[in-house]
Amino acid sequence: MSEVILVVDDDKANLMLAQKILGGTYRIAAANSGAVAFKYLEKNKPDLILLDINMPEMSGFEAMEKLKMDERYSSIPVVFLTADKSVETETKCFQVGAVDFVGKPFVPDILISRVKRTLELEKYRSNLEDIVKDQTKQLEERSKRISEIQNHVIVGMANLIESRDGSTGKHVKNTQIYVRMIVNELKRLGYFSESLDDEYMENICKAAPLHDIGKIKVPDSILQKPGRLTEEEFMEMKRHTEYSIDIIKDIIGDVEDEKYVKIASDIALYHHERWDGTGYPKGLAAEQIPLCARIMAVADVFDALYEERCYKSPIRPAGKVLEILEKGKSTQFDPIIVDVFVSLEQDLKELLGE
Ligand SMILES: [Fe+2]
Repeated sequence: MSEVILVVDDDKANLMLAQKILGGTYRIAAANSGAVAFKYLEKNKPDLILLDINMPEMSGFEAMEKLKMDERYSSIPVVFLTADKSVETETKCFQVGAVDFVGKPFVPDILISRVKRTLELEKYRSNLEDIVKDQTKQLEERSKRISEIQNHVIVGMANLIESRDGSTGKHVKNTQIYVRMIVNELKRLGYFSESLDDEYMENICKAAPLHDIGKIKVPDSILQKPGRLTEEEFMEMKRHTEYSIDIIKDIIGDVEDEKYVKIASDIALYHHERWDGTGYPKGLAAEQIPLCARIMAVADVFDALYEERCYKSPIRPAGKVLEILEKGKSTQFDPIIVDVFVSLEQDLKELLGE
């Protein structure tokens, strides 16, 4: 089907002439004012608009401004029609976004050539845009897939480390769920709104499984020791927080975005810090401890107490563990985060099948 050209000109003779010159090749829609043209555009999308500049009520330039401001029409190519062939007018035509302009009175061959060339260029532009869109989509899908694979590998690694730790095999998954519950509720209640944007929230949840990644460097003899650790062994165990920094840098440093790497590192390094400053490895206190690590600390300790480990029995039900967390408010934990987690007791019970 041939292309549709909307010709806008207040001079009826020009409309008829355009119809006569172009009508054999294209379908022509005629409008004798800007208002009529916009009425036509409400229901139709022409391939090209030929727009007269000097019209009463709405000039061609005014119509052009309106076209460019409306995303329904802004991509339609516009060629101005003008008897004024001054440099100023020509310059203004291009400044306002016309693809070309044609002098009046029309010279049939010139009008046909200009229209043909503009439509061809538009077709190429649109094809190119489709190709770019298509390739961008493919690239995005590929990078999403790579990121998914990488996440699986990370979670797999975290699970492997966990299995050495003598825990039940659910710690990585559970703590990630608790972290998500906490951040969603903090967001809902408006806490830490300066930090908790969508990206930060997603990054915390994605990075949570990496919190104990540094344990990969801690010997089995310490990780799996059923009894109490000696002072020296405990010192080594504590180092898992610092070991994690290089590991995170190695496995995701070059492939993930900076903000995610920073959050993953902060979680891993600071999740054993305490609100009162007596934690490790740095002894940071209160808000000095990054928010993501304060959230992780609550999720981590809840799961550690609730689940069975090789060196301890589980504490049940969840309410009992939450009572212990409450006792750690403002000493071990950020009080707001504990309050929010405690308020989710009913959800926790359902999740844990209690
Ligand atoms: Fe840890």
